[in-house]
Amino acid sequence: MAMENFKHFLVVLSVAAAAGLVSIIFVLRWVLHFREGLAWDGGPAEFNWHPVLIVIGFIFLQGTAIIVYRIPWTWHRSKLMMKFIHAGLNLLAFILAVISMVAVFDFHNAAKIPNMYSLHSWVGLAAVILYGLQLVLGVGMYLMPFTPASWRAAFMPLHVYGGLFLFTSVIAVALMGITEKLIFSLSNPKYKDSPPEAIFVNVLGLLLVVFGALILWIATRKSWKRPSEQILHTLHTDGGVEDSSNVGPALSELSDVPDEETCGDVRKRSCKLDDQPN
Ligand code: HEM
Ligand code: HEM
Repeated sequence: MAMENFKHFLVVLSVAAAAGLVSIIFVLRWVLHFREGLAWDGGPAEFNWHPVLIVIGFIFLQGTAIIVYRIPWTWHRSKLMMKFIHAGLNLLAFILAVISMVAVFDFHNAAKIPNMYSLHSWVGLAAVILYGLQLVLGVGMYLMPFTPASWRAAFMPLHVYGGLFLFTSVIAVALMGITEKLIFSLSNPKYKDSPPEAIFVNVLGLLLVVFGALILWIATRKSWKRPSEQILHTLHTDGGVEDSSNVGPALSELSDVPDEETCGDVRKRSCKLDDQPN
């Protein structure tokens, strides 16, 4: 990655990390300061695990998992190790999302509130189920050694599209959930009267949008992509890359390919190899 490009990457990554971490602080402050706190007792404090685990797991950890291959200082690590980190973070996000589902269903059942009546719950549950499917297919395709390379390559566009679509849907579902919760729980003053809690939680929603927008930006820059294994290997064996600090700039010549049409001689090779995920 060229130095200029690397600086842009760092700025976007830092703002995304800040937005994500501040979102976690905001959701904790929401439930601990404005609401009933956290407990596992069938009451409102059990419901509160729902937004908390969603923001930490389904949004922050999933967002991190999505961009983990893009971090230049991991490029000297093996692809297999990065796959385990990507899959592990996604698995953790899934587990936290499932616990957050248990919390809200438990709370509804204890309070005799009907289940699955809202658009939020329909799109939300669909996202959790499809995420589970994405996880199983991801493991089957990219962690099983017997899966043919041609299947891996053919499935990759669907995997990437599916992942980005799910991540975006999860943010949209969270915004619906936040709005519902504010409308249900604020009375005297009501949501429409903009009490401090309403403003605070609206800002949480904005932070989630900013986090989502930046993660999607990072994940869709071709010039920020992890170079293919073959190119990393060539640079290592040719003595081109000795330590991790050199990996970024040294690879810029090979991997900063805006798109397929601009591939030159060496670049054509790197473009071709990039289509062969392993
Ligand atoms: C309920 C999923 C995020 C607030 C539900 C239900 C599901 C669900 C399936 C139905 C539970 C039942 O019928 O017993 C999700 C998913 C989310 C998410 C997948 C992740 C994106 C949030 C967030 C909030 C929230 C961030 C903010 C507080 C609510 C509320 C309910 C609820 C108020 C009860 C009303 C209803 O069923 O719509 N959620 N939720 N949700 N969720 Fe979420
Ligand atoms: C790439 C999402 C699970 C293996 C990606 C990308 C996304 C994504 C958005 C594109 C990243 C980029 O372009 O830099 C997800 C989601 C998952 C999931 C949401 C879980 C629900 C898995 C699992 C594996 C896996 C379990 C198994 C190892 C890969 C591989 C790539 C990839 C090999 C290509 C990385 C590259 O060559 O740049 N994933 N993924 N994914 N994912 Fe997943």
